[in-house]
Amino acid sequence: MAASRQETELPACYAMVQLGLEDIAAEEIARTLGGKAKRSGGGIVVFRVDDIDRDVLQLRTTEDVFLYGWGTDALSYRAKDLDQIERWTTRDVNWDLLLKIHHAVTPKPKGKPTYRLVAQMNGVHGYRRIDARQAMARGLAGKIPASWKHAEENASVEIWLTIDGAMAICGMRLSDRTMRHRTYKYEHLPASIRPTVAAAMVRLADLKPNQTILDPMCGAGTLLAEAHLATRGKKTVDGTAWQLQLLGGDIDASHARAAQANLRQFGITDVRKWDARDLPLEDVSVDRILSNPPFGKQLASPEEIVPLYRQAIREMDRVLRPGGKCVLIVSDARVLRSAVERVPWKEERHVQVRMLGQRAFIGAYRKAK
Ligand SMILES: C[S@@+](CC[C@H](N)C(=O)[O-])C[C@H]1O[C@@H](n2cnc3c(N)ncnc32)[C@H](O)[C@@H]1O
Repeated sequence: MAASRQETELPACYAMVQLGLEDIAAEEIARTLGGKAKRSGGGIVVFRVDDIDRDVLQLRTTEDVFLYGWGTDALSYRAKDLDQIERWTTRDVNWDLLLKIHHAVTPKPKGKPTYRLVAQMNGVHGYRRIDARQAMARGLAGKIPASWKHAEENASVEIWLTIDGAMAICGMRLSDRTMRHRTYKYEHLPASIRPTVAAAMVRLADLKPNQTILDPMCGAGTLLAEAHLATRGKKTVDGTAWQLQLLGGDIDASHARAAQANLRQFGITDVRKWDARDLPLEDVSVDRILSNPPFGKQLASPEEIVPLYRQAIREMDRVLRPGGKCVLIVSDARVLRSAVERVPWKEERHVQVRMLGQRAFIGAYRKAK
């Protein structure tokens, strides 16, 4: 897609992210697209880039990316918002330009184009979600070619309105479901981490070429897959491709098999059945650890996680090189921190996230040199 800000005033974009990942997504947008976040919060990052092209679809920490139509932080919660939604949709957006950019960025649909209108609403408002959707539909009258039919499934163009309390944002979706769900997952586990959250943890781990990366409780292997994908095609300054050694294992043989099935396609073959409390690995042999130990809900009880975290973290410390980093996601930050207190690690950063309605804590640690 060739549209650039020099030729025409490009619209902003916005990304939807898991709550709490806004800053990490803004960093990814800045680093990989040279984009500038204009505002972020509430699971939304509004940003501008000089060129809107397919690169925006390569973002890994975002659930969805949209072309920005309009936004507000000042909904009244009263029915008069509906008139505003209609007015902003009609008046404040160059829908022709958004459609043009959308066509250039996303694959051409087969057959006659279709469209879908989506409204999401959080909070108690004096109108229903369907009323908000209808207000958006009225505002769009005459803006979408008359020959286009409405379709609930696989529409060529989706226009979304997201309302969260006093905030509303409306735009045209550029991504599809593969951005959040990925296409590499053949085998799924109920306790698998969300790929976008795994990608955020990979960013926090700050991987470097020639490193050995370990996930000692790898489940279906999402963290290792994201580590591979985040670095695939990267070159060092002298032009040689990054070499990473990725290894993982799980105490449950069926989980290790799921990870093997998911990771083979990336050439990651060192996935074993093992106990993270007693790893068959040399002392100080890995540079980065990424892991998602059981939360103490689905796969282990709350009483089990205290000794499990202590023993597994002692073992992680044994295999981690001095100066190495470890990024962990748990649900109980206190249990994690009390286990980390026993090893020479320093917390460099932490992030509170909400993953599918569950609170989670990501801690990024560096082992003393
Ligand atoms: C929350 S799941 C990990 C999910 C994984 N990140 C994914 O995306 O599929 C936690 C995993 O830890 C494993 N596990 C629990 N105790 C373990 C231990 N002592 N050693 C190795 N793995 C263990 C479980 O079998 C489970 O697969």
